[in-house]
Amino acid sequence: MDPYLPNVRCPTMSKGRYIFLAVLCGAFAFALGIIIGWFSKTEAGPGLTAEDRAALDMYRESIEDADETIRDHILTNIDAERIRENLRELSAKPHMAGTPPDHEMAELLKRRWLENGLDEVRLVPYDVLLSYPPLGREGPNNTVVTVDGADPAREFEDTRSLHIEPEYQDDPDAVQFFNAYSPPGHPVGELVFANYGRLEDFDYLRQAGVNCTGKIVLMKYRSGGRGTKARNAAAAGAIGAILYPEPADTNAPGGKVYPEGWDLPGTGTERGGSLLEPGDPLTPGYPATDYAYHLPEEKITVFPPIPLQPIAYNDAQNYLSHLDGDVAPADWNGTLPITYRLGPGFTGDWAGRKVALHVYTNTTMRRVYNVVGLIKGRLEPDRYVMLGNHYDAWVQGAIDDTSSTAMSLELTRVFGGLVKDDKWRPRRSVVFAAWGAEEFALLGSLEYVEQFTYLIKERMVAYINMDIGVGGNYTIFGGCSPPLVDVIYDTTKQVPDPDASLGKSIYETWAERDPKDADADVKVPKLGWPGVGTDYISFGRRVGTPLFTFAYVHDQTNYSPRSVYPSYHTAYDNMDVMERFVDPDFTVHRAMARISGELVRRLADALVLPYDSRKYAPSLSAFLQATEEDFGSMLHDQDISIDALRSAVANYTVAAEDFQGRVQAIDKKDPMQIRRLNDQMVQVNTAFIDIHQPHHFEKHVLFSPSGCATNSSAAFPGIVRTMCDGPVNEEGWREIKKQVAAITSTIQSAADVISDVDSILGPS
Ligand SMILES: *[C@@H]1O[C@H](CO)[C@@H](O)[C@H](O)[C@H]1NC(C)=O
Ligand SMILES: *[C@@H]1O[C@H](CO)[C@@H](O)[C@H](O)[C@H]1NC(C)=O
Ligand SMILES: *[C@@H]1O[C@H](CO)[C@@H](O)[C@H](O)[C@H]1NC(C)=O
Ligand SMILES: *[C@@H]1O[C@H](CO)[C@@H](O)[C@H](O)[C@H]1NC(C)=O
Ligand SMILES: *[C@@H]1O[C@H](CO)[C@@H](O)[C@H](O)[C@H]1NC(C)=O
Ligand SMILES: *[C@@H]1O[C@H](CO)[C@@H](O)[C@H](O)[C@H]1NC(C)=O
Ligand SMILES: *[C@@H]1O[C@H](CO)[C@@H](O)[C@H](O)[C@H]1NC(C)=O
Ligand SMILES: [Zn+2]
Repeated sequence: MDPYLPNVRCPTMSKGRYIFLAVLCGAFAFALGIIIGWFSKTEAGPGLTAEDRAALDMYRESIEDADETIRDHILTNIDAERIRENLRELSAKPHMAGTPPDHEMAELLKRRWLENGLDEVRLVPYDVLLSYPPLGREGPNNTVVTVDGADPAREFEDTRSLHIEPEYQDDPDAVQFFNAYSPPGHPVGELVFANYGRLEDFDYLRQAGVNCTGKIVLMKYRSGGRGTKARNAAAAGAIGAILYPEPADTNAPGGKVYPEGWDLPGTGTERGGSLLEPGDPLTPGYPATDYAYHLPEEKITVFPPIPLQPIAYNDAQNYLSHLDGDVAPADWNGTLPITYRLGPGFTGDWAGRKVALHVYTNTTMRRVYNVVGLIKGRLEPDRYVMLGNHYDAWVQGAIDDTSSTAMSLELTRVFGGLVKDDKWRPRRSVVFAAWGAEEFALLGSLEYVEQFTYLIKERMVAYINMDIGVGGNYTIFGGCSPPLVDVIYDTTKQVPDPDASLGKSIYETWAERDPKDADADVKVPKLGWPGVGTDYISFGRRVGTPLFTFAYVHDQTNYSPRSVYPSYHTAYDNMDVMERFVDPDFTVHRAMARISGELVRRLADALVLPYDSRKYAPSLSAFLQATEEDFGSMLHDQDISIDALRSAVANYTVAAEDFQGRVQAIDKKDPMQIRRLNDQMVQVNTAFIDIHQPHHFEKHVLFSPSGCATNSSAAFPGIVRTMCDGPVNEEGWREIKKQVAAITSTIQSAADVISDVDSILGPS
């Protein structure tokens, strides 16, 4: 029985009426009256009209805490074999964004989610600029080839690079190797090797006397964005860029390559977008709807400036092994069985040859869809908890990210089943999202957040994201908004490790395998602000929505820390790899789905949100400390005071402590107070957004990146940003002064949001 019920009824039931009833009906009737009054939920009790009863029921419901038995239902009903069958079906064929199989998948998900019991599912369309090489085996193929330096029309056919994984060349839906948004072009030049293509790599080349002007630059993947590598190469004078996955970074030493193992063979390469920042390049800041204003293409500054093409490492080895020039520094070495040299140009048999790029990749407008489904909340339908992942893939993408799509499909069955059978309906609304065109540039999620910015800001209680959901069987890798840390830890304590023989929770193995502090006596799992680029970005950095993004990853011990997983963005990211090497019994999938499902249930159903606003305070102090240490004396010399910033950080810390005290002392019988404190717990996250920050979606004063390639100071990004390029000029110092004030005001605003109502009067 509801423990609050007696208190509720007291004021409306007069003693006089009880006595009157007792006299009139006698002891038996009195007892019956009591029984009816106490136990009946639907019929009017003594002295209560039907309307009173209904009002009381509504009140009772409004202060009812979550039914915790639903947790067991969700955890036990998530079925590993169903997830396997989902993944088999969804990864059966390539489904690159903007192509017919991609659209079919959106329709399929919509149909299934509805069948599974969601209240409503829609496709949300955007018309965006995508980029493809010739599709369907009809046009020419993107290739790299060596040519006669004196007569570049003369190609050495036997040096022509692969343009697709050979096993997939007969599947017209499997796209050839390309980097989306590369300009088309056919540059010819001598080859130079530039390690990871970072600015310091080009500095090294310059100091080593290697002039990149007019050259084609070969670079390894990792340690920086694809487009950034092309931009750095172009800045050094290069006219074409080639990327390859270095086996030292993707594979374990002595590991077996596919199909004997899951490591990357020398016949596949990573595809991938190369825009310098995500989002539809034609509609920055605004949704790519049919009424959108489109930038003219010549105004777009986010394309890589030179043609860019990925090749497999067998081909990279072929070119590198003939390179002339100095031996590359030891830390540029990979594990190809060659001596890594800098170039320029070739030596031996290949002397005098140049490299020609044939890049046919070009932009094109396409319609892409998000699939968005709703379970309407029972009491607070205007408060949303969203679970999202992208459904597009470069090829089949069994790992990236069809594994997540398979899990969320199973979750729609489990949640939808409860709703369909009238067993349960969450307090708040649950929203499922399958994002389109993530791989190109986070398009679906970014355009969606641009379209619904204020709806999301005002109403979204949490955004949970999965990407590369099951990329390994070792441990969780993720990041979150600080207030969510505890509820995430608690949730992973409820879910057993996928390896049942260990008898441990995910939390325990996560803390052992990836501790926040390896030297701590009691280890806790590593969980900070997310560092990877996926669909949470605009929720987190444009709106400030409380969020968690996560994946299950492989043991990196024998792999380079730069490794994502070996078959990342290749055609070898397929069901076979998943079933034989990553998650044969689908217990990792089941565990991930359980974590997502239980987290969504808790956040959607909890009477009081399990958030802790105090968790921002250590981040604020760390940003402040780094600002003082890295820039304190320079700021002082410029007469820029950070006293007010220090005061805002202190004010936040005190305000959060007070606020958490109010949350702990919450009157669970007062629905208005519950709603008020819950709202504040969400609003404090969005308060760290400064809408006046210049970038169109990087608006978080703590967690937006500074955008610096070289300056890695952990100070507030708005301050670091202006320091990127060395000495700051007068205008720069004015900007920094402005940023210090902006950050101070934003942090103080966050403190005000969690202060009590009289904060509207200003400081006392
Ligand atoms: C491109 O490659 C495909 C195989 O993947 C081949 O069938 C086709 O003929 C090639 N196109 C050209 C123009 O060489
Ligand atoms: C690099 O080569 C270009 C073109 O050959 C030339 O104009 C430029 O001066 C060279 N740069 C250096 C630093 O030698
Ligand atoms: C690594 O680089 C150094 C030169 O910097 C070279 O002497 C050495 O042979 C290289 N190692 C391998 C395995 O290629
Ligand atoms: C690339 O596509 C644009 C239209 O998006 C077109 O104007 C241009 O001619 C194409 N370039 C090549 C080389 O095909
Ligand atoms: C994870 O996968 C590796 C490689 O397939 C395997 O050796 C290992 O036993 C698996 N670990 C667990 C915990 O299942
Ligand atoms: C911090 O709070 C104190 C006391 O209310 C107030 O005087 C001060 O102005 C606040 N700091 C900022 C930056 O607003
Ligand atoms: C970042 O910039 C500051 C100020 O210019 C400078 O003192 C610091 O050394 C830079 N840090 C890095 C890693 O470049
Ligand atoms: Zn992905």
